[in-house]
Amino acid sequence: MKKRNIVIIANWKQNPETLPQARTLFRGIKTAATKLRGVETIVCPPYIYLSELSKKTKSSKLALGAQDVSPWEGGAHTGDISPSMLVKMGVKTVIIGHSERREEGESDEIINTKIKTALKYNLRIVLCVGEKVRDTDGEYFSHIRKQIERALKGVARTKIPNIIIAYEPIWAIGSQARRADTPESFIEMSIFIRKVLNERYGKSYAMKTVILYGGSVDEKNAESFLIHREVAGFLVGRASLDSEKFKQILTLANTVR
Ligand code: PGA
Repeated sequence: MKKRNIVIIANWKQNPETLPQARTLFRGIKTAATKLRGVETIVCPPYIYLSELSKKTKSSKLALGAQDVSPWEGGAHTGDISPSMLVKMGVKTVIIGHSERREEGESDEIINTKIKTALKYNLRIVLCVGEKVRDTDGEYFSHIRKQIERALKGVARTKIPNIIIAYEPIWAIGSQARRADTPESFIEMSIFIRKVLNERYGKSYAMKTVILYGGSVDEKNAESFLIHREVAGFLVGRASLDSEKFKQILTLANTVR
């Protein structure tokens, strides 16, 4: 069977503390990432490290991404970083709508504006969706549907190839996580996400969309997901701060795919 391409994104969040630490971590990841033919690795450090790390990213297999972007193209917006600033820094991918930002008050409307603004600059979007609790009635599916529909409101079909969806159930994310999702339930969710995309954009767009899993992915559970062809890759938080663990995930992905 033909091997598939895997996308693995490192979300460093508010880490590490210093630029030298960021350089060391990035160097560690780079040695593995640039050798793997079937894995596209994207590292999303805090904004302030992008400039320095962009000097060290000259590989088609390793790229830099941002963890967020301003909804505004320009103008006076204290603290914001515009899409064009990111593009000029060599950034091609941006995470939008991460649950930790939603928790800080980011609404579906802001997420939608951010997506539309970033798309104008040809940035590739990693749209994060996920439910807080998994109820037994399956209500969480309609929550995910709403998140996707609201985030993509007014986004043209031709832009869909620029959208990656990361399914990250909140109960599975970060140090408070109870556990990772199971591969089976992630696959069920990714089929549902394709159904939602199919209704709006048609089958061929829905089938081609890259859908990632995120939430307590580590070097121990990565393989159980990757053996399923429906799994296109991961958005990794904590395990991306340890270059050895992250390298193991990358290498596994390259082997198992
Ligand atoms: P985690 O975070 O891998 O530490 O659970 C994932 C994320 O929040 O993107």
